[in-house]
Amino acid sequence: THITWDIAGAEKGGYPDFMLKEIHEQPRVIRDTLAGRLVDGRLVIDELDLSPEELTLIDRVYVIACGTSLHAGLVAKQLIEGWARIPCEVEAASEFRYRNALITPTTLVVAVSQSGETADTLAAIRDARVRGARVFGITNVVGSPVAREADGVIYTKANKEIAVASTKSFLGQIVSLTLLALLLAQVKGNLRQNQIHLLYKQLASTAEQVECILQDTSRIQQAAQRCYQASSALFIGRGMGCVIAREGALKLKEISYLHAEAYPAGEMKHGPIALIEDGFPVIAVATHGPIYDKVMSNIQESKARGACVIALAEQGDEEIQKYADEVIYIPPVQDCFSAITASVPLQLLAREIALLKHCDVDQPRNLAKSVTVE
Ligand code: G6P
Repeated sequence: THITWDIAGAEKGGYPDFMLKEIHEQPRVIRDTLAGRLVDGRLVIDELDLSPEELTLIDRVYVIACGTSLHAGLVAKQLIEGWARIPCEVEAASEFRYRNALITPTTLVVAVSQSGETADTLAAIRDARVRGARVFGITNVVGSPVAREADGVIYTKANKEIAVASTKSFLGQIVSLTLLALLLAQVKGNLRQNQIHLLYKQLASTAEQVECILQDTSRIQQAAQRCYQASSALFIGRGMGCVIAREGALKLKEISYLHAEAYPAGEMKHGPIALIEDGFPVIAVATHGPIYDKVMSNIQESKARGACVIALAEQGDEEIQKYADEVIYIPPVQDCFSAITASVPLQLLAREIALLKHCDVDQPRNLAKSVTVE
């Protein structure tokens, strides 16, 4: 007998595309990125190459990145400011490098890049170092330019990512940046050791939560059916939910070519609400953040104007079914870790919509995995 080996098929490990395979690797990425970081109850990031004294002096953080990596930076801002109480700005590398940012020797620049070779990100860190900043890299590629040129590096342990639209690297970046935020809070003394320990445990448990989300995707498929024929979609959320919305919208436009925009839910009445007419898809991130009630009112406002509301909510939230056309449930999660879990159903939603539109989910038109030229 003759056996024909399907090489690409074998590499996909039985999944129909790399994107789905990589989405399913995410629980492992969370575990591997966290492994060995808590030693005797203390958080350890040796690669940072800064003494505890130097770390204590840090009084400003810039996270610079592009694309999906920039969204991981937006998660970090909430945690670094919330836990370590250090002002943190997040900026597209292509903007940061051309302006006169406030860099001093006590500024920490964190460059986030899956490939570690994005031209703008590299140029930005070179410039920041010349101007005296300490530069820390978060990348997925060992020995990449970002890893070589930074003062220290955390590897995201996603392993090679093939699908152009980033999924597992994004989760690895968020977990790495969460560790960095915890470390800064630890050296600044803003969080007690037992709080750090507890947060680390909760962070680790997101791996099981993601596993649980991956088990049943039927509601995501139903939601995709409702929006794939639309010409535009609006993603809304508040706080961490707003960041999740941004990445959800980016994933959708990248791979399905459906125009999608993310907005802080509270800003809807200043523009996007004008777009809403019968059947217009509004994807609302309604996890139990501190301003859940406000998100609920934005959902009701959208519904009243005819929107088709797809809500991302926590298991046990029955109330939301009254206002949403489809509810995608995820396990209950702390707000600070919600970007890790709640991003996963939106990755899957983007993929389902892209498949319904017969798009190549692994290789979207006009996009490249890494952008090494300007
Ligand atoms: C390209 C990719 C995106 C990625 C971005 C930044 O646009 O298509 O998936 O998020 O570059 O890449 P980096 O390697 O720097 O994270």
